[in-house]
Amino acid sequence: MAFLPSFRLFIGLAAAMAGVASTSTSPLLSRRVLHESRHAVPHGWSLHRRADPNTIIPLNIALRQSNLHYLDDYLLEIADPTSPSYGQHWTPERVAETFRPSTESVDAVHTWLVNDGLDRSRIQLSKDRAYVQLNATVAEAESLLATKYYIYQHDDSGVEHLACHHGYHVPEHVATHIDLVSPTIEFGGIKLGATLAKRGGASPAKGKYMHRPQGPPKIPVAAEALTTDAENCAASVTPNCLRELYGFNYTFVETQKNKVGVVELADQTYVARDLDIFFQKFAPDLVGTEPTLISIDGGTINFTEMDPGLIGESNLDFQLIMPLVGKPQPVSLYQVGGDGSFNLLLDALDGPYCTSDGGDDPSLDSVDPGTTRQCGGAPPSFVYSISYAGAEDLGAHYTERQCTEFGKLALTGMTFLFASGDNGVASNSLGLCLLPNGTAAPVSAGDLTANFLPNFPATCPYVTAVGATQLPSGSKVTDPESASIDFPSGGGFSNLFPRPKWQNRAVGKYLSNVGDTLGYGPEVFNRSGRGVPDVAANGAPTAVVLDGNFTLSGGTSASTPIFAAMVAAVNDARLALGKGPVGWINPVLYSHFFAGVFNDITTGSNTGCGTDGFPTAQGWDPVTGLGTPKFETMQQRFLVLP
Ligand SMILES: *[C@@H]1O[C@H](CO)[C@@H](O)[C@H](O)[C@H]1NC(C)=O
Ligand SMILES: *[C@@H]1O[C@H](CO)[C@@H](O)[C@H](O)[C@H]1NC(C)=O
Ligand SMILES: *[C@@H]1O[C@H](CO)[C@@H](O)[C@H](O)[C@H]1NC(C)=O
Ligand SMILES: *[C@@H]1O[C@H](CO)[C@@H](O)[C@H](O)[C@H]1NC(C)=O
Ligand SMILES: *[C@@H]1O[C@H](CO)[C@@H](O)[C@H](O)[C@H]1NC(C)=O
Ligand SMILES: *[C@@H]1O[C@H](CO)[C@@H](O)[C@H](O)[C@H]1NC(C)=O
Repeated sequence: MAFLPSFRLFIGLAAAMAGVASTSTSPLLSRRVLHESRHAVPHGWSLHRRADPNTIIPLNIALRQSNLHYLDDYLLEIADPTSPSYGQHWTPERVAETFRPSTESVDAVHTWLVNDGLDRSRIQLSKDRAYVQLNATVAEAESLLATKYYIYQHDDSGVEHLACHHGYHVPEHVATHIDLVSPTIEFGGIKLGATLAKRGGASPAKGKYMHRPQGPPKIPVAAEALTTDAENCAASVTPNCLRELYGFNYTFVETQKNKVGVVELADQTYVARDLDIFFQKFAPDLVGTEPTLISIDGGTINFTEMDPGLIGESNLDFQLIMPLVGKPQPVSLYQVGGDGSFNLLLDALDGPYCTSDGGDDPSLDSVDPGTTRQCGGAPPSFVYSISYAGAEDLGAHYTERQCTEFGKLALTGMTFLFASGDNGVASNSLGLCLLPNGTAAPVSAGDLTANFLPNFPATCPYVTAVGATQLPSGSKVTDPESASIDFPSGGGFSNLFPRPKWQNRAVGKYLSNVGDTLGYGPEVFNRSGRGVPDVAANGAPTAVVLDGNFTLSGGTSASTPIFAAMVAAVNDARLALGKGPVGWINPVLYSHFFAGVFNDITTGSNTGCGTDGFPTAQGWDPVTGLGTPKFETMQQRFLVLP
């Protein structure tokens, strides 16, 4: 499901500004270079008309942050298990100070705008000095960026969107000082691809368009058929099945210090009554317990919501994570309002990432009218479980900027766990793949020309991507799991983020033993990209309560809070020893030090894009990552680290 906000045109202002001289050409301009471009109009959108040259648009020029090229080094210093500084996380102040854009960058952009004929009084620098901002007419923006603006229309919803047609240009000497200019080429929104919870049907809600849901069928199940022991775990997965599968039965002790978060977006909500029916059966001491609401940008919960497409995700997340961490440990709900984009979450967690009137892309990251965007101040957690995903096709600069922010927050000791998706090597519930002309579209069986399209943020190296496993029909809880069978677990290789060095050994082995023997050409997947997922946990058929009834659901949406509960338990044990939380865990997971920590998953594959996708294999694979955790072993190893 996707949230496609309409672009807010400043029509009222246009008339007032109509008399302002549009542009003047300056002889001082250096050669313009293409800064960002898009191959094609995204799936579901059509070019409608030229934008009115007098329309006013809020141009945001995102300055390049300082020292970003050291981010990997900084992170490895505190997250590589062999580093003497392992675990020495940074303060938020140190992060802000280190990455603040330089004065040279501010000056270069300012000079460019003034030389292009814009009055100094119209140009503003955001509080945190991350963006240069300007209200410009479409005509001025077109001259400044050597581009043409058009209005596009969403085929199904009729929503209009303003964007450049191909790409935009900036002077060569400015290009190195900026990340991106918005609004320019971005489209779309965050798509809820990684949940089986939306199987109830497409329903336009509150002006937002949602994709047709996919995934395995949701099956009603009689409450009596669900046992609280772990005898029937191939047929229905209950909290005790998960405890048995991973040897995870840990009692939290540092319940005040420890912070555990679950993120839910836009209109998605849990229903307290459903949680209580579930707890009554599987965790009676939790009856009446709810997550602690941290509302971001007007995010609300709605206990009268009945649409399975709007309650399935949140209900599933809390029915899994709360019993697994146990009653004494509070769980926070970060309910993100507005467009429900990850940038809104990041803005609320990190003030300097934000600006007063929207340093993010207004077409993707806007808040509801009357709501003030929250910049910083959201109480942080050590671990975040996030079962939402979108195709890795939101534009390279936008995507990289957001990924970098996950990395900066990881420096402070946060762990971000993301679902890898439920559509195999294709992306989100539409099963999108990349066509040769760069368009993302559903691909029918037999078309082998399309590129696999993994999900973002799972492909960001600074988050941990979680895939799904399942017990084959008829097997016992002590038998090996397979890659998920009821739906293909999301996995593959990023087309944007190069393979980090901590993945070289594991991913290189898969490519030479398996990946290179599959007959997929370089146009099908990018063998130099970051591999996903990193780890896996059970994803079907998960027992949940929806609208008062027990139902079998699941997805990597289930796997993610399950793995998050275990990371939270590791943090608890470390806090009890006076150590810090684990933070960014990826380099540790792939290290020699973690040999034997995971149950290797060697059966199953992840079909998609009209292909068999990738098969599982010994060691890491792009279906189940390193495998499922042996909790006790994983915890002991993390306790050895400083
Ligand atoms: C891309 O290719 C597909 C399939 O050939 C076609 O349907 C689509 O219109 C093309 N899109 C563009 C923008 O060229
Ligand atoms: C642009 O216009 C809006 C709406 O009037 C205003 O709130 C905002 O402060 C302006 N931004 C700049 C950079 O002048
Ligand atoms: C978990 O631990 C509790 C308390 O020690 C025990 O009663 C229970 O049987 C254990 N459950 C599993 C599935 O091991
Ligand atoms: C809560 O859900 C109900 C049922 O779908 C809906 O009618 C109502 O408008 C929702 N309330 C809010 C505040 O969104
Ligand atoms: C493959 O990935 C690398 C790094 O991730 C990137 O530079 C390159 O452009 C990608 N190639 C294609 C064809 O997507
Ligand atoms: C829930 O179960 C009851 C009977 O147990 C049934 O009448 C009702 O239709 C079910 N609700 C849904 C949403 O399936």
